[in-house]
Amino acid sequence: MPDLVEFSKRGAIGVITVNNPPVNALAAGVRDGLLACMRQGQADDAVKAMILIGGGRTMIAGADIKEFGNFDKAGGASLHDVNAAYESSPKPIVAAIHGTALGGGLEICLACHYRVAVPSAQVGLPEVKLGLLPGAGGTQRLPRLVGVETALDLIARGRFVAAPKAKDLGIIDAVVDGDLLDGAVAFAETLVADNAPLKKIRDLDLADDPAAFEAFEKQMAREARGYMAPRHCIECVRAAVELPFDDGLTRERELFTELLTSTQSKAQIHIFFGEREVAKIPDVPKDTGQKPIRSAAVIGAGTMGGGIAMNFANAGIPVKILEVDQAGLDRGLGIVAKNYANTVAKGRLSQAAMDARMGLIQPTLDYAEIADADIVVEAVFEEMDIKKQVFQTLNEVMNREAILATNTSTLDVDEIAAATDRPELVIGTHFFSPANVMRLLEVVRGAKSSKETIATAMALGKKIGKIAVLVGNCDGFVGNRMLAPYMREAEFLLEEGARPEQVDKVFTDLGFAMGPFTMTDMAGVDVGWRIEKRRRLTRSDNLRTSYLVDRVCEAGRYGQKTGAGYYKYEPGNRRPIPDPEVAAMIEAESADRGIERREISDEEILKRCFYAMINEGAKCLEEGMALRAVDIDVIYTAGYGVPRYLGGPMFYADQVGLKSVYADISKYHEELGGYWEPSALLARLAEEGKGFRDL
Ligand code: 3HC
Ligand code: NAI
Repeated sequence: MPDLVEFSKRGAIGVITVNNPPVNALAAGVRDGLLACMRQGQADDAVKAMILIGGGRTMIAGADIKEFGNFDKAGGASLHDVNAAYESSPKPIVAAIHGTALGGGLEICLACHYRVAVPSAQVGLPEVKLGLLPGAGGTQRLPRLVGVETALDLIARGRFVAAPKAKDLGIIDAVVDGDLLDGAVAFAETLVADNAPLKKIRDLDLADDPAAFEAFEKQMAREARGYMAPRHCIECVRAAVELPFDDGLTRERELFTELLTSTQSKAQIHIFFGEREVAKIPDVPKDTGQKPIRSAAVIGAGTMGGGIAMNFANAGIPVKILEVDQAGLDRGLGIVAKNYANTVAKGRLSQAAMDARMGLIQPTLDYAEIADADIVVEAVFEEMDIKKQVFQTLNEVMNREAILATNTSTLDVDEIAAATDRPELVIGTHFFSPANVMRLLEVVRGAKSSKETIATAMALGKKIGKIAVLVGNCDGFVGNRMLAPYMREAEFLLEEGARPEQVDKVFTDLGFAMGPFTMTDMAGVDVGWRIEKRRRLTRSDNLRTSYLVDRVCEAGRYGQKTGAGYYKYEPGNRRPIPDPEVAAMIEAESADRGIERREISDEEILKRCFYAMINEGAKCLEEGMALRAVDIDVIYTAGYGVPRYLGGPMFYADQVGLKSVYADISKYHEELGGYWEPSALLARLAEEGKGFRDL
């Protein structure tokens, strides 16, 4: 095995190569190796300049995140020391970048005297996405190179910049065509021949830009509500303006440490690793065979079908979309075209790219035309009989290799699969609305779905830019199943004395994108009503039922789409406005049920709704419907507007402590009855003093 960092020579140029696959993270051994190799180059009189380069597929992608929270044990030289040593080297050092130079990886490049990169390389300081800030000089050096406005944008948003743009901004000195090492050696030889100066970014002047700070702070207050790290990033850039370089570094370090020890960054790192963990399925190993997906078909061009087809087209996969009649096709494709046109109008897509994508979406009314597709996703009405009929037809017409996927949100995937004679090829692909925007994809494993089918659906999710999470086949799968008790308690709380705006505020204050009633109004109150009416058919008489939703829907209040739901809306505006009419309905409902209204505390709202959800999450884990607690957290941050800085419901519960969560749930069980039956898993973990993280 090669050393983590190796020193070699190309003529008079020393080459320092980092070999820490897969992403050359700056683990303790790498930091030590970087220092040792640089010293070796210094000590060798034949070496006139040095190159720092990444071995394998990338330059350094940053600090080793796994070491965070474990620094004492990690040991090794500090990145500050490494950077200081590189910057003060009397021989020029050139960073040669391919793949990505990120976070601490870019920071060391900025401590070098020059930077070159291949055109496909990207650079960035994405620490903010982990709830951190660039803690090894990045906030002090980058502004000196690119100015306040650009630095704020790159650091506080964690944006990546491709090499050509980085060259324009002055972050790199040259774009190298052809072999990177050859190009970097030639660049370094020219420096030596020209006796070029040692360019130290720390010595550059930085002009203040109060207007840029002011404008940016305003934008971030909106864009990153509740997140600590962007504010700290801004403060560091301000320090770069106001303080001498070394004092700026000290300030950066203080603020970095504050973030590193915060719950927010722990939560964001939990989600970072979680988004990678969800791809790992214990009984479907990495080398499981996958079917190639070269073409696709979608049945139904409604709200979901159109969005799903866009996902395929966006990934360059030709897709046919089938409807019952021409009018349905025209309507569906019209909406798709309008969505693309909006993106073009915003300047985020070229007209040519839109035309190419529309060209990949072919409408059809004939099943024969989709027969050769590698996957078909059914997105017709949520009616079991219709779905079964569609799957019988698919079974007859589709080639024998095709994967047959259903986008059902509530129906039994096994029952749908039983309409075919190839249930091993049937799987649920539960997209979220709007399907072309939302990142979450629940892949629903049927009892007979083959491993190859699962592996293919998971890989397809990644290919079309989704975060695919494997879930079990149960009512609501994982996300909606956990949402049900949260919504239920929210509704009960209205009957007991709360108002929609009070309940919603508790959750937006916690950081949710929206509270339960704004969410219901957006999704359609009638959608939940239909599901609730179905559930009532099998609900035990001992369990409480709220009929408030009936009152709201019977008044024609289906949510935003009808201009009124739990709130009212002004035409063309999605801002929910509390409505006295709803308040009257709620009060009438309380009176009819004989419930005496009382003052409801925010704490009760939070616990009743959120803990009900967490308890259901624990039951999903207990039953194997979710593979890991972090899978649930990823579902909630990617699909339900829970901010990454909360880390998801299960992470949140761990922070509160399961003993305390369990005690509250047990208390509600006693007071409120059957719905609150505590999860056995939760009970066990609480008793053992453990958290979901210990599973
Ligand atoms: N530390 C430790 N492990 C890391 C890592 C890091 N910085 N970056 C990636 N990994 C791991 C991933 O967890 C994954 O592990 P797995 O295979 O066991 O699941 C593996 O490396 C490959 O990563 P990806 O699956 O994400 O590979 P991609 O090719 O899709 O993406 C990437 C590569 C763009 C580098 C992406 O991994 C990434 O964005 N990494 C994080 C970069 C980052 O945030 N850097 C800043 C770190 S904080 C810092 O530097 C602090 C400093 O300022 C002091
Ligand atoms: P929709 O009503 O907007 O669209 C359904 C479309 O299917 C209609 O255009 C209809 O003409 C077409 N259709 C009906 N029967 C057909 C058949 N036999 N053959 C071909 N086309 C047929 O419904 P929506 O909202 O798109 O839902 C589709 C599926 O996606 C449902 O199973 C739903 O539960 C699920 N889903 C919906 C979400 C949402 O937010 N709307 C979210 C996640 C899943």
